[in-house]
Amino acid sequence: MGGLRLRNRIVKPATFEGMCPGGMVSDALVEHHRRVAAGGAALTTVAYASISPDGRSYPTQILMRPEVVPGLARLADAVHREGAAAALQIGHCGYFANPRVIGGRPLGASRLFNTYGLTFARPATEGDLARVVSDFATSTWLAREAGMDAVELHFGHGYLVSQFLSPFTNRRRDRWGGSLANRARLAVEVLRAARRAAGPDFPILLKVNIRDGFPGGLELDESIAAARMLEGEGATALVLSCGFVSRTPLYMLRGDVPVRQMAAVQEAWHARLGLTLFGKLLVQRYPYEEGFLLEEARRMRAAVRLPLVLLGGIKSLATIERALGAGFELVGMGRALLHDPDLPMRMERGEAAGSGCVPCNECIAEMDRGGVRCTRPST
Ligand SMILES: Cc1cc2nc3c(=O)[nH]c(=O)nc-3n(C[C@H](O)[C@H](O)[C@H](O)COP(=O)(O)O)c2cc1C
Ligand code: SF4
Repeated sequence: MGGLRLRNRIVKPATFEGMCPGGMVSDALVEHHRRVAAGGAALTTVAYASISPDGRSYPTQILMRPEVVPGLARLADAVHREGAAAALQIGHCGYFANPRVIGGRPLGASRLFNTYGLTFARPATEGDLARVVSDFATSTWLAREAGMDAVELHFGHGYLVSQFLSPFTNRRRDRWGGSLANRARLAVEVLRAARRAAGPDFPILLKVNIRDGFPGGLELDESIAAARMLEGEGATALVLSCGFVSRTPLYMLRGDVPVRQMAAVQEAWHARLGLTLFGKLLVQRYPYEEGFLLEEARRMRAAVRLPLVLLGGIKSLATIERALGAGFELVGMGRALLHDPDLPMRMERGEAAGSGCVPCNECIAEMDRGGVRCTRPST
């Protein structure tokens, strides 16, 4: 992938770890990724590092600055010793940033109310956007300095760049809003700046939504057109995903809604009460099936030449083979590897044909309870 040789086609996508108090890499984070590498995956992705203090929604996210380089270097070394490669996902939460964590009003494309953080966004100025572009570039450079093998720019899930791409959150009338070319301008500028900072050979993956998952959001036709723009700007590969944290949080996962566990980790009493009483109504459930993005992603496959990482309910050899057969170069296995990090090795040895992940989605509440983990015994 780009200049990077991977030992197989299995990627562990970012699953926010919640293991970095003070925004610094912890021993727990290093061990988490070493464990994934030891289990046989080719590439493990460190989740959700924030490019700037105002981009955070959790106090336990990595905050990119020179002080994190030694910790990231330690993590990269531990992963390399197990024969795998490590990518760092970097992003800015935009108006999903937590006002209590960032100490101010979150930045967004337009002045919309955010039901996730219960705040109005502050519409980004030209100066804010220049700073965001430059912070993405600096963070990319820091990741490379630390010896990470790749960065993944987070352009999906309704975070800042996705808030610009989505017609639902981008109501601007300036050069950053309106047409798709304008809404994609931030993505393009961020990618160009990251590419300049990283040099020509460093792998830069983009996590993108193929659909936001609600009426008025980004749809497949536009996500394909945006992907074609980004293909010409130095992207190495796309990681295909879907969903918008404030509107369709479970769309990117599908499966059960763990209402009780989600309510228990809310900071505010009203959020706890609301979720406990009305969780089943507030958080929509989407049926899970193996390879749930495969059919829609085929159209993206046909439209771009970049290597594509397909994810979404990939948890068995049969589904991996279906994805590779459909022309996707790599597969992402998120929950399957949270449940059992040794699965790639066990599949290679012929000891397992798939993962026992249910999917109950209880792992998403664990991010707030000291560190992401599977709540079910490994099978
Ligand atoms: C606990 C948990 C945390 C996640 N955190 C992130 C994240 O920080 N960044 C991201 O891009 N996706 C995140 N995701 C989404 C996954 O990367 C992936 O897109 C999703 O789990 C679907 O893949 P799967 O069916 O293989 O689990 C998270 C998923 C889970 C279950
Ligand atoms: S808690 Fe475990 S079994 Fe449940 S969805 Fe997460 S990884 Fe799968």
